[in-house]
Amino acid sequence: MDIKKIDGEYVAGTYARFPLEIVSGKGSLVYDETGKEYIDLGTGIAVNTFGVADDAWIAAVTEQLGKCQHTSNLFYSSPCALLAKALCERTGMKRVFFSNSGAEANETAIKTARKYAADKKGKDTNVIITLKNSFHGRTVTTLSATGQDTFHKDFTPMTPGFVYAEPEDLGSVETLIRENKVAAIMFELVQGEGGVVALSHEFVNGLVRIAHEHDILLVVDEVQTGNGRTGSLYAYMQYGFTPDIVSTAKGLGGGLPIGACLLGEKVKDTLTPGSHGSTFGGNPIAAAGALNVLSRIDDALLSEVGNKAEYIKKELTGADGIVSVSGLGLMIGIEVTGDASAILAKCRDEGVLVIKAKHKLRLLPALNIPMDQLAKAVAVIKAACAGAQ
Ligand SMILES: Cc1ncc(COP(=O)(O)O)c(C=O)c1O
Repeated sequence: MDIKKIDGEYVAGTYARFPLEIVSGKGSLVYDETGKEYIDLGTGIAVNTFGVADDAWIAAVTEQLGKCQHTSNLFYSSPCALLAKALCERTGMKRVFFSNSGAEANETAIKTARKYAADKKGKDTNVIITLKNSFHGRTVTTLSATGQDTFHKDFTPMTPGFVYAEPEDLGSVETLIRENKVAAIMFELVQGEGGVVALSHEFVNGLVRIAHEHDILLVVDEVQTGNGRTGSLYAYMQYGFTPDIVSTAKGLGGGLPIGACLLGEKVKDTLTPGSHGSTFGGNPIAAAGALNVLSRIDDALLSEVGNKAEYIKKELTGADGIVSVSGLGLMIGIEVTGDASAILAKCRDEGVLVIKAKHKLRLLPALNIPMDQLAKAVAVIKAACAGAQ
């Protein structure tokens, strides 16, 4: 069977796929349809937190599969309740709404911010400031929140009520606050799809100050940065502030679809019965897998993430064909002098899977990638970048 041909004929043409099928794997090693082995530095775009076919995660998911695969939110379900408790205990947030993706977690954040502002200040306080170059999802409203025109152009009219500030420019945020009735500021601490660009502490401190001065909610999109990826459980923890709302997804599920919107003190009771919902949200299998993932993101793992990030940055910074290395923890962008797509292809030939963010190479390895595999992959990337100048 020619899977590439069948996919090309029957699957909606929204994806430019790499020319291989991932058939199986173990940890950070994956195998294609010919049996060729690759070191995977993409983890399904920051999803497979502990790599592929991780034993402990499989055990947790399988145990739940044998009990009950789905209940709907008409009933209580232990994995959902216990995951919400664990997330709140680890973050200090107060309640969690579960969905199935990052976009839906952001939809929840947006609905919560608007309802909170409407309840407190009146319905016309509904504008949300996001940042240019951000990415918040593919639904019409999260696309509207996304501060990149290229994503909007074929899908207008967008959901109204979003205005875009310049990253690293507090003046532009203050101007937007003067010109609009603002409910919230929503941002990624590392703009992932925007090219793996970390916001400066100075800018984030300023956002926090401005939000407090104007009684505006702080919403942090940790869909990609969350769940240990940047070296702390959530990236905001490294910036030293407490958001009102945190959205996350991707790595939380370790490979099964789950989104979570964490609600802080101010907004913990904003969502009321009937105001929001999801058929699959908090699904017991996804939640059981997420509980396992979360329980293993401990201090030892996070310090390992920090050490590996340092190693990658040290090896690649200043190397031939590399302009700069950006990001935080194991969310790394590499600006290259050569053509990024050609470098990706060369890496694939050499058995290393790397992905792109805009014109950069992007590395999102499993948090527990063995050091020898990481070193081997970094050497391949270095050679490919040097060779592509
Ligand atoms: C920061 C951020 N927010 C939201 C999303 C959307 O997540 P999903 O594709 O799970 O809807 C992404 C996906 O890349 C993301 O990186």
